[in-house]
Amino acid sequence: MRFKDKVAIVTGGGSGIGEAVVRRLHSEGAVVVIADIRLDAAKRVADDLASPERIATREVNVLDNPGLEGLIEATVGQFGRLDLLVNNAGMGSFGKVTQIDLAHWREVMAVDVESVFWASRTAIPHLEKTSGSIVNVASASGLAADYGFAAYNAAKAAVINLTRAMAIDHAPLVRVNAVSPGLTRTPLAVGLFDNPAIMAAYGGILPMGRAAETSEIAAAVAFLGSSDASYVNGHNLVIDGGMTAHTGQPNFTKILGDASHLDQAESAFRG
Ligand SMILES: NC(=O)c1ccc[n+]([C@@H]2O[C@H](COP(=O)([O-])OP(=O)(O)OC[C@H]3O[C@@H](n4cnc5c(N)ncnc54)[C@H](O)[C@@H]3O)[C@@H](O)[C@H]2O)c1
Repeated sequence: MRFKDKVAIVTGGGSGIGEAVVRRLHSEGAVVVIADIRLDAAKRVADDLASPERIATREVNVLDNPGLEGLIEATVGQFGRLDLLVNNAGMGSFGKVTQIDLAHWREVMAVDVESVFWASRTAIPHLEKTSGSIVNVASASGLAADYGFAAYNAAKAAVINLTRAMAIDHAPLVRVNAVSPGLTRTPLAVGLFDNPAIMAAYGGILPMGRAAETSEIAAAVAFLGSSDASYVNGHNLVIDGGMTAHTGQPNFTKILGDASHLDQAESAFRG
């Protein structure tokens, strides 16, 4: 029960990774406020959990700065404290810089980055009182570039470095960390999962041979937000099954064969 008597807010808690984080924190004793632009989605998750006295829902669009302030102030007003803010709500984006317009770019930056800035800015004074922490949900797409993901790549990279900036500025009272999931089975990624050509291509680049389940991301968020991570600060925990451990070079073992063909493989390297 790492979160007994602790109070957490999860943005985008009505679906996918956020929902799994809500379930995990709640199962470990936390009071959890599920904040989502879709109140019905937040309520669906809340209604499925035991201990309703440890759950609250709130309709919030993270684009709405006063709405974010209201979320945080209402949480502290109702439950007396705030121990953990999980900035999870986010949006995807597809298009090269020549294909997306300024309005889209600004929306992605606002939903994925500005919301993290504003929610954190509002929450930090409360987190300082509880020696609390922030966990930001970034992405493996913030570590390098994907074809056609320009705005998302830029936004998630910004989240990762904003995490580091807040971590050093607000230590030792508040720890700030990020997780960077790779492909994870959620409604946001359904367009990828439903496309056989995309999934076939993933087959060659996922060392684990599968996507992540949301519970696997939630476990890492819970670790970073707990006292088990009391000296972890400014870290970006990549949860991609090893996808970004790969340099991107060809799979030599597939082309040259395995140990039974070592001579051939070695001669390929010698030229
Ligand atoms: N699914 C993946 O493969 C993957 C990989 C890396 C990172 N991520 C990141 O994980 C986070 C969660 O994504 P997911 O895959 O669970 O998506 P999802 O669509 O399953 O869930 C996102 C939730 O956020 C809510 N939301 C969306 N816009 C909002 C807004 N403006 N204000 C408040 N709530 C809003 C939605 O209603 C939804 O409940 C995102 O930041 C995403 O970028 C996802």
